[in-house]
Amino acid sequence: MPGASTGNIESVLSEDRRFDPNRSFTQRAQLKQELLDELCRRGESDPVSLWADLAREMLTWHKPFTATLDRSRAPHFAWFSDGELNASEACLGPWIRNEPDRPAIVYEGEDGDSRTLSYRELGDAVERLGATLRGQGVASGDRVVIYMPMCPEAIVAMHACARIGAVHSVVFGGFSARSLYDRVVDASAEVVITADAGRRGGKFVRLKAAVDRALEYGEHPVRRVIVFRHSGEEIAWHDRRDRWAHELTEAAAADCPAEYVNTEHPLFLLYTSGSTGKPKGIQHSTAGYLLHASLTCRWVFDLREDDVFWCTADVGWITGHSYVAYGPLASGATVVIYEGAPTWPHGGRFWEICERYGVTVFYTAPTAIRALMKLGDELPGKYDLSSLRLLGTVGEPINPEAWMWYHRVIGNGDCPIVDTWWQTETGGIMISPVPGVTSTKPGSCTRPLPGVHAAIVDENGEEITEPDRGGYLVIRHPWPSMLRDIWGDSERYRETYFGKFGDDCYITGDSARRDADGYFWIMGRLDDVVNVSGHRLGTMEVESALVAHPSVAEAAVVSRPHEIKGESIFAFVVLKSVPAEEGVPPSPGSEGVPFSKPDAVQRELRAWVDEQLGPIARPDDLRIVDALPKTRSGKIMRRLLRSIARGEEINQDVSTLENADLVRQLMQP
Ligand code: WT7
Repeated sequence: MPGASTGNIESVLSEDRRFDPNRSFTQRAQLKQELLDELCRRGESDPVSLWADLAREMLTWHKPFTATLDRSRAPHFAWFSDGELNASEACLGPWIRNEPDRPAIVYEGEDGDSRTLSYRELGDAVERLGATLRGQGVASGDRVVIYMPMCPEAIVAMHACARIGAVHSVVFGGFSARSLYDRVVDASAEVVITADAGRRGGKFVRLKAAVDRALEYGEHPVRRVIVFRHSGEEIAWHDRRDRWAHELTEAAAADCPAEYVNTEHPLFLLYTSGSTGKPKGIQHSTAGYLLHASLTCRWVFDLREDDVFWCTADVGWITGHSYVAYGPLASGATVVIYEGAPTWPHGGRFWEICERYGVTVFYTAPTAIRALMKLGDELPGKYDLSSLRLLGTVGEPINPEAWMWYHRVIGNGDCPIVDTWWQTETGGIMISPVPGVTSTKPGSCTRPLPGVHAAIVDENGEEITEPDRGGYLVIRHPWPSMLRDIWGDSERYRETYFGKFGDDCYITGDSARRDADGYFWIMGRLDDVVNVSGHRLGTMEVESALVAHPSVAEAAVVSRPHEIKGESIFAFVVLKSVPAEEGVPPSPGSEGVPFSKPDAVQRELRAWVDEQLGPIARPDDLRIVDALPKTRSGKIMRRLLRSIARGEEINQDVSTLENADLVRQLMQP
């Protein structure tokens, strides 16, 4: 598809509004025009020495490095590889020593309960849990799966792993038991950290029960499940395997000396979707990752100690790693976290939280902005949002209408907006305005940060210099926070990210264009990945889940634009033929009786996807059809399905279809 379409994706968007940074912001900003120009110049001519200088300046080293970029195993690059440090110690240590009582985390639960942890309290909790994990036999390099609600203990668990050199793999609490099982097995984790239940939208999210179910799917390496008491919900208990976190930590030592690791030691794995059915365990390093997460907090969020920073992402996503658990704490800021739905129990909840804690920098996803925008201007108007000085977005292109609303209603026309482009794989923000310097245009993530060699290339890897022509978005020089590998699958790492244009050209999988001012405009994904509410999902994953249902013969999944979610999932499903009188058999374990009505089939299949992957993957549209349209060589005609799902005119050649009536049927709701 890329070859056929990148060159001629037409830009329907012609946006010529421009917003200059406001003067008072610029005066106070840490990164000013001259410094930015200097950094960009050095980043262009000698990125390696720039990154090395920044790494010396930004990070607390146990053993300073002398090596800079090591290309010997390209495209597995290593940075600063003879140094040693500890990521959690580097983040928290300086603040614990110098300003122990500064609030590190302010937590608000859905019921309005609130808790604050100072840097000292956070450090103590991290040490206790670190000592506990060590006591449970977790050693440096071992993988620990974290499946938690968005509460302070989730961050404590991540830092406790980092403190002892264990590799955390956070699995988003909204993922199903099945997804959890797959991730536990892929990472061969022996320990899982969870909580009884979390809260969302007035309901319990029963995490411990999901862990119990996950560990029944098949063989697994888990020998210990550590459970935080959070909601107080009653849970089932397996004496040999389960332990209460509070009992273990009370008995553990109060101190836990940090394990100093090599810079390249994996800090964490985070699973993300690709274009095949199997999620990829993205492996990040310690020093390179932490450098970028901290540095971008300064460059992009202008963060400092007196800031109250609220990034609304869950720690189950990369955003919650870089801009909740690591970057802002390394900057000494106060981090707000909220466990619950943005509109619970009312649509002003986000703004109420901003007012209550005096949030100064707010970072969220376009999908949330669109949902809140729909509720009108009066709701935010009820709250005092004057503490806000900077707004950010991430996860998908923001439509100019939502950008303007964010600017006008939330930012009072006066806050810079940073539209930040990056990915799980990049570890931190790559293309973004610098808030005191860059003039912004609604819908554009503007320009690459210093040292980031972003470019747009054609099918042959040649840079496209002509303005507004779409192509592959690539990064043409390694950078410290890039992923190091796909866990257990180096072949897939090479193929996915470097297969096409060589070892020095990282392929993002996005298409983009650059306008005459050199501003980047992200156009979308080039692979079979959909972006639902800012979260990446592989269409193949959803297809595999559907065909795993006993009644399904074949499935094809595409996306269509969605007013709030950005994109939503549209599934075409072919059922196995069953004698008419029997109807469709129910899935094993479902309570239903055999059903014959199509809407019952659809309901059943949606619930099935929920169970397999989690609610975010549930298809909004699910159409039962007799067959899928295929080319003579047997490939599903995805472009045709996409056009149908989007209600577009059909331009594809369908003459090769065996069943000419099929198109009509595919189009019938
Ligand atoms: C994909 C990465 C990075 C944290 C959240 C998602 C899309 C991300 C933007 C943006 C347009 C964006 C891209 C990218 N994306 N930020 N500012 N403008 N598109 O992380 O799940 O790894 O997804 O999200 O398509 O490739 P992720």
